[in-house]
Amino acid sequence: MRHQVCIIGGGPSGLLLSLLLRRAGVDAVVLERRSRDYVLSRIRAGVLEQGLCDMLREAGIGSRMQAEGFVHDGTIITAHGTTVHIDFKKLTGKTVTIYGQTEVTRDLYEELDRIGAPVFHEAEDVAIHDADSDAPHVTFTHQGRSHRVDCDFIAGCDGFHGVSRNTIPKAVRREFENVYPFGWLGILAHTPPVADELVYSGHERGFALCSMRNANLSRHYLQVPLTGKAEDWSDDAFWAELRRRLPPHLAETLVTGPSIEKSIAPLRSFISEPMSWGRIYLAGDAAHIVPPTGAKGLNLAASDIHYLSKALIAHYAGDEGLLAAYSATALARVWKASRFSWSLTRMLHHFPAEGSFLARMQAAEVDYLAHSTAAQTALAENYVGLPY
Ligand code: FAD
Ligand code: DHB
Repeated sequence: MRHQVCIIGGGPSGLLLSLLLRRAGVDAVVLERRSRDYVLSRIRAGVLEQGLCDMLREAGIGSRMQAEGFVHDGTIITAHGTTVHIDFKKLTGKTVTIYGQTEVTRDLYEELDRIGAPVFHEAEDVAIHDADSDAPHVTFTHQGRSHRVDCDFIAGCDGFHGVSRNTIPKAVRREFENVYPFGWLGILAHTPPVADELVYSGHERGFALCSMRNANLSRHYLQVPLTGKAEDWSDDAFWAELRRRLPPHLAETLVTGPSIEKSIAPLRSFISEPMSWGRIYLAGDAAHIVPPTGAKGLNLAASDIHYLSKALIAHYAGDEGLLAAYSATALARVWKASRFSWSLTRMLHHFPAEGSFLARMQAAEVDYLAHSTAAQTALAENYVGLPY
């Protein structure tokens, strides 16, 4: 088969790219290793920046998000006895929207189905060939049959463990990594959220985050050691630990209930440069990972797709400039969002190997944040998302 663009990976990056290209008359195929049900069962991000919301609206799939998502004007940061309300709207004029990554993915699949855009699920043995030539191709197996896609470009949207990044020769690639000595244990429960806004809590026992999906569906996270497993945590143990890590007025109002999902994610910062080589262009987790503290993973995937879709569309209109600049343009935003995620992680987590000096630095930082509009504005500006 022949398509102008072969997209590897049917997560949010790959699906959004496919839709935006189609809208502009560029033909793309998506190859996804997993089943659709599997992709839709992965509970991940929940906070959408305005830039991503605007993209979904422009792509014609914003109506369910508009109806069911919750617009948040701010967030609560609490640590070392200080609680700060960061008013995004007042400080930046922008807001964020609470709408789960699974819902974004579902909306994308439904629209791609409706317009008849090809998505191969359970595509096995995906292999990239001749990515540095003018005639790249991709081979894969689907339902026992071998297929070959001839294309002009390959979009590597296959996440951190995909095949695309490793197609770029080691001699060309440079990787930057910081692995954190803990993970996040997340649960989803049919309980009301503890507050109207998200609560980020730094505590000497470890970080906690109270998030939500809707008025009766909450998503909470606890910093945990990487040595344990999610199954080791009973629901009661999770709720008891969360209560300990919240300020008393929030701990008192915490409503508990049985969890419907429980998993541990390790935390890492990772950036691979460059984000393009020959005819292959990386986007999203295939090129970079951020710790989840700033809610930036999905949003960075979206900004990459903003740049990449525009660049590919410009190419078919005869302009090569954006495609040539893609890696540098995307990386400039990636590094800034990675810096923000790293600094928020550093401010709010307990680092077991570091002593009381770091704890005092964290307390000083939160105290400064509480009393400086400039510091609050800097945090808000990064949280709502830097401009594309
Ligand atoms: P992915 O969503 O990883 O999609 C890549 C797709 O490629 C997958 O569907 C995969 O099956 C497919 N694929 C992989 N290899 C191949 C192959 N060889 N061939 C074909 N297809 C392949 N971000 C936040 O902001 N907040 C969070 O709370 C949060 N929690 C997370 C929890 C976990 C466990 C993980 C892994 C990530 C989390 N993230 C979170 C990050 C956020 O979900 C990602 O940044 C986002 O999913 C990136 O989208 P993507 O499409 O680039 O990659
Ligand atoms: C959620 C996840 C995050 O990493 C974050 O910073 C905020 C919210 C969530 O899953 O709701």
